[in-house]
Amino acid sequence: MPSAPQTLTIRRPDDWHVHLRDGEVLRGVVPHTARQFARAIVMPNLSPPVTGIAAVSAYRDRIVAAVPAGLDFTPLMTAYLTDGTEPGEIVRGHGEGAFVAAKLYPAHATTGSARGVTDVAKIRGVLEAMQDIGMPLLVHGEVTDHDVDIFDREAVFIDRVLAPLVRDLPGLKVVFEHITTAEAAAFVDGAGPQVAATITPQHLHINRNAMLVGGIRPHAYCLPVAKREKHRLALRKAAVSGSPKYFLGTDSAPHAVSAKESACGCAGIFNAPFALESYVQVFDEEGALDRFEAFASEHGPRFYGLPLNPGTVTLERSEVEVPAVVDANGTPIVPFHAGERLQWKLRG
Ligand code: DOR
Ligand code: ZN
Repeated sequence: MPSAPQTLTIRRPDDWHVHLRDGEVLRGVVPHTARQFARAIVMPNLSPPVTGIAAVSAYRDRIVAAVPAGLDFTPLMTAYLTDGTEPGEIVRGHGEGAFVAAKLYPAHATTGSARGVTDVAKIRGVLEAMQDIGMPLLVHGEVTDHDVDIFDREAVFIDRVLAPLVRDLPGLKVVFEHITTAEAAAFVDGAGPQVAATITPQHLHINRNAMLVGGIRPHAYCLPVAKREKHRLALRKAAVSGSPKYFLGTDSAPHAVSAKESACGCAGIFNAPFALESYVQVFDEEGALDRFEAFASEHGPRFYGLPLNPGTVTLERSEVEVPAVVDANGTPIVPFHAGERLQWKLRG
């Protein structure tokens, strides 16, 4: 048997789904993403949400200002869709390069989604315009109906919303964000090439036991919530399959320790500081190190129609200990894998 590789050099990767927040915390978290990735799709669920061209461009400038000197990082911006979004604003913003995609949050599905879309029928004109110009729709795929169990909300979303949408607008590029179920992977596999998905590190590493066994663990809570083991295994299979439909999207979602460790803790896992280390360990465990570069650095840009990054990064097989807490410019945040040892380390 050949000996296990000690280093892995890949084309510079991108993060196709991240939350960078704003203000002081933004300045604390941007360096982590900028150290690991060349580009990132930045989610617009601020409070208030970033909806129009002017707000998105101003937010972009604040992110760029927070990139440490010497790091080359480009934020790729998104517009937040509401019931009132005008197709003309979306088309103009995309044409001017202000946003590369638009995000669909079903209203009240997750953090910062109160102004999200109450019924996709209300944004039909926007979606048709996006289909016409080839602009990707990024979807938080969960229904919010009170009678639907939280562990079923993604699967029900496929049947009630996503499948009809993909059928009615067959040319619309759709990214099914942070998929968490076998049903989602099966849907993506069965759809045309215009439908893709991001997969987070946490949904590859943990199932719902991590959140609930031996005590309630708020730092393992995110939305969509981690599901049972069979789903985690289906996601690992999809991620390492080599299919161009799956790509890296961390959904890194920082919240202060106090907001997580609360009677009503916020959803979100802060995985930016060790994202590549976390993902590459999964590919190593699955015997698929040779497919990591495509997942991290090729499938995303090809789907979005953007150039691949020049340059490379190197990961080395060397233990790294994840700290219990990361200081994000004055805000303490517990990172994913806090207190654990990971098996790979990003060089530099
Ligand atoms: O866990 C999550 N946190 N899921 C989301 O969809 C939003 C995110 C956040 O912004 O905190
Ligand atoms: Zn997200």
